[in-house]
Amino acid sequence: MQRVFAAVYDPALERVERRGLAALRRRLLGGLTGDVVEIGAGTGANLQHYGPGVTRVTAVEPSGPMADRLRRRAGTVAFEVATVEAPAERLPVADDSADAVVSTLVLCSVRDVAVAVAEARRVLRPGGRFVLLEHVAGTGRLLRVQRALEPVWTPLVGGCHLTRDPRPQLLAAGFDLTGVSATRLPMPALVAPGLVGDAVAR
Ligand SMILES: C[S@@+](CC[C@H](N)C(=O)[O-])C[C@H]1O[C@@H](n2cnc3c(N)ncnc32)[C@H](O)[C@@H]1O
Repeated sequence: MQRVFAAVYDPALERVERRGLAALRRRLLGGLTGDVVEIGAGTGANLQHYGPGVTRVTAVEPSGPMADRLRRRAGTVAFEVATVEAPAERLPVADDSADAVVSTLVLCSVRDVAVAVAEARRVLRPGGRFVLLEHVAGTGRLLRVQRALEPVWTPLVGGCHLTRDPRPQLLAAGFDLTGVSATRLPMPALVAPGLVGDAVAR
């Protein structure tokens, strides 16, 4: 199943990337500087969007087939990329060492959101940024549809949950969410409610 998900991932996203997702990635990542840790880096869709200020990206991805694609893409960028097969809940990264941690469309899929965001906080230096682009639970009728579809959706779409909202766990881990906005992502309606911006490690 992981192999199929990895094989269809880029073609499945091609249209939404063109319709605004790629521009959003660029806006969030283009100004980052220094050492970046990216969790759930997938096929490496973000790599082309980092700006010249980035010196090194530690790209963490637990799925072997995704990591294979990530390694191939890593060879096409100018900065150093270290690809590590590991989950966001157990980052092989030193405390207080990262200038930014990046999570795009990942917190919907991790096993334990509280542990994953606590790990992001642990590896960030004080004042470092947790850059988020995540789809979250909707409200009203959309939320009812998400709840109804989730039991089928999650096993088919790489463990993705439709009804999560990581804000309580981010606050509990010690992030300031002033720079994170609730917004509509340029994605299909089911996954359009989003959270975008920088959570700052207090
Ligand atoms: C929807 S994809 C997003 C990929 C990429 N971040 C992007 O923006 O295109 C979700 C990714 O999260 C990864 N993932 C699943 N469980 C994870 C975990 N516990 N820790 C880190 N990544 C995880 C999946 O293997 C997959 O690559």
